[in-house]
Amino acid sequence: MVTPLDQRPRSGPYSGINARSAKRFLAEQFRQADLPFPEEDARDLVLAATGLSEVELITRGTEFLTPEAFERVSEFAARRMSGEPVDHILGERFFYDLPFTVTRNVLSPRADTEVLVRESLRLLEGIASPHILDLGTGSGAVLISLLHARPDANGVGVDLSDAALAVAKSNAARHDIAAEWICGSWYDPIDKARRFDVIVSNPPYISDAAMEGLDVEVRDYDPPLALRGGPDGLAPYPIIIEGAQYHLRAGGWLLVEIGYDQGEAVLGMFEAAGFTAVACLKDLGGQDRVVMGQWSS
Ligand SMILES: C[S@@+](CC[C@H](N)C(=O)[O-])C[C@H]1O[C@@H](n2cnc3c(N)ncnc32)[C@H](O)[C@@H]1O
Repeated sequence: MVTPLDQRPRSGPYSGINARSAKRFLAEQFRQADLPFPEEDARDLVLAATGLSEVELITRGTEFLTPEAFERVSEFAARRMSGEPVDHILGERFFYDLPFTVTRNVLSPRADTEVLVRESLRLLEGIASPHILDLGTGSGAVLISLLHARPDANGVGVDLSDAALAVAKSNAARHDIAAEWICGSWYDPIDKARRFDVIVSNPPYISDAAMEGLDVEVRDYDPPLALRGGPDGLAPYPIIIEGAQYHLRAGGWLLVEIGYDQGEAVLGMFEAAGFTAVACLKDLGGQDRVVMGQWSS
């Protein structure tokens, strides 16, 4: 068993431990606790606690930690050992190469969702000043990434949670992105006459049964409103698909994120509603992740 960092013997005015060995030490502690990404977590926490960059961890990694940095490393390590995810400890998560503030009021944006952004950007190629609607915007990560990549686009982000929208607005300000952020349920707050080139949504899609088996890190740190998709997890999709028919321009696209086992059900909903070019895209792990379709009429 590894001795926790703050119980190790120290010497002199400094902590007696350098950044590189702190990282090694944390990684070993996390590995023994069966945490899934011990090396990455240890690196991210030591970098944040010391203020060093990844390169500086190599070039200056043998310098002793200051007592303050040592205290921060010890605190971060204890929080991680108690199950708190790294992005909540640091208050930040990278998505599509941009840092986003995360709090307990928003889902931490996941790498799997990047396929939704990548495909939307592909579909928007060739459309000047496109209009984009993001339903269930949460931290704003999807819409902000799209607008960051397409500075000529206009964007609207809707969420039922005012607290989530506050995080989205602060992320938009952080990246100097202008968008409309509206509180309400799906299309309810959107003017009936408004049309978009692309509507994206990563709605809550966890079924009641799957909620029972969620990892502690998801269950205890992501808000239930961002997770619960009704008894079978599919409740938001009929609403999002139905409304898209009134809010897409002719030739516009709807893209929704889905759970790995929901592809067939959601593809069927798109086809029954009259969408064309309906397709299911996989994430980097090879799982069904996005269903998309074009509205032609
Ligand atoms: C899975 S999270 C997605 C957050 C973000 N778009 C992302 O991909 O990281 C789903 C979001 O939908 C929001 N939501 C849940 N029900 C909603 C509703 N009826 N209308 C609008 N937003 C809703 C939640 O508050 C949450 O922010």
